[in-house]
Amino acid sequence: MESKFQNEHGECPKNLKIGVSVYDQYDTFVASLTECLKSMAKQKEKDENISINVEVVSAGGKQSVQNDQVTDFINAGCDILCINLVDRTDATMIIEKAKNANVPIVFFNRELVREDLERWDKLYYVGSSAAESGDMEGQIVVDLCTGEDNFKKWDKNGDGKLQYVILEGEAGHQDSLVRTEHSINIITEAGINLEKLGDGIANWNRAQGKTKMDQWMGEIGDDIELVLSNNDDMALGAIDSWKESGKSDWPLIVGIDGTAPALQEVLEGNMQGTVLNDAPGQAHSILEIAYSMGQDIELPEDIELTDDIYVSLPYRIVTAENVEQILKQQYQP
Ligand code: GAL
Ligand code: CA
Repeated sequence: MESKFQNEHGECPKNLKIGVSVYDQYDTFVASLTECLKSMAKQKEKDENISINVEVVSAGGKQSVQNDQVTDFINAGCDILCINLVDRTDATMIIEKAKNANVPIVFFNRELVREDLERWDKLYYVGSSAAESGDMEGQIVVDLCTGEDNFKKWDKNGDGKLQYVILEGEAGHQDSLVRTEHSINIITEAGINLEKLGDGIANWNRAQGKTKMDQWMGEIGDDIELVLSNNDDMALGAIDSWKESGKSDWPLIVGIDGTAPALQEVLEGNMQGTVLNDAPGQAHSILEIAYSMGQDIELPEDIELTDDIYVSLPYRIVTAENVEQILKQQYQP
């Protein structure tokens, strides 16, 4: 087969230029993912004896900026783009540009609708199931509250219900809506009575999570028995607030992502659990798709593509029981 990457001798050129744009450089989980990607690309350069250039830019939360970054990457001769969309409903412009220039795109972490991904056969999505992470977060609470003595430990006022607050990610993000719904459903389906005392959007952000919890602290702090958070950074913000309050009767706190500081809080017992969002696994998948597209070869067997579009990495529950093991196994970029 003719390939734009083959020279006249039918050999593949060695170089690969990958342009990565993230929605916000300050997002902890996304930053850890791009760190993994960069370090894995360095390793692959050595393993394959080729040059892989990975350039990471941030759109600073503006879709128009990201659209321009895509133009710049294409003009700079990138072989493939990896895009963490700012607005997951607004991918049309980027897709058109890439298609016109015949530059494939691996979207990641911020899931666009299938219809968009079907606009061209060189579009991919790497991520994880939002529903699964919400289910697992709920399951951590169920496991900790099953059995009368366990339940009593968290039901501080002894009314047979868990009074909770929930910190939510960005409005409209697949991981906010779905995680909220699934975590709550799993808990209530297990027969645990919940009573919501408050909810607030904190945009995945630790400082915003703390601000929200500070507000609640004054009004309902002593009544809160459970803090559900759509991600770890917001849960860490809640923990910051709890530490500052000097109160001792902490609620059960759970998050999602398994970031380094969150695993530390699980180890120290300030947070009861988190759900590992596999940044190294996602980075590996992104890199392998980029590499295979760039060299026009088949994907390696460990990358499973669903419907020729999707790679979905499994989540994993982390609690006091396995946190030490998880810390030992963690990929260090
Ligand atoms: C989620 C992750 C959040 C945040 C968000 C950004 O998957 O759990 O912490 O990084 O993606 O899109
Ligand atoms: Ca209660």
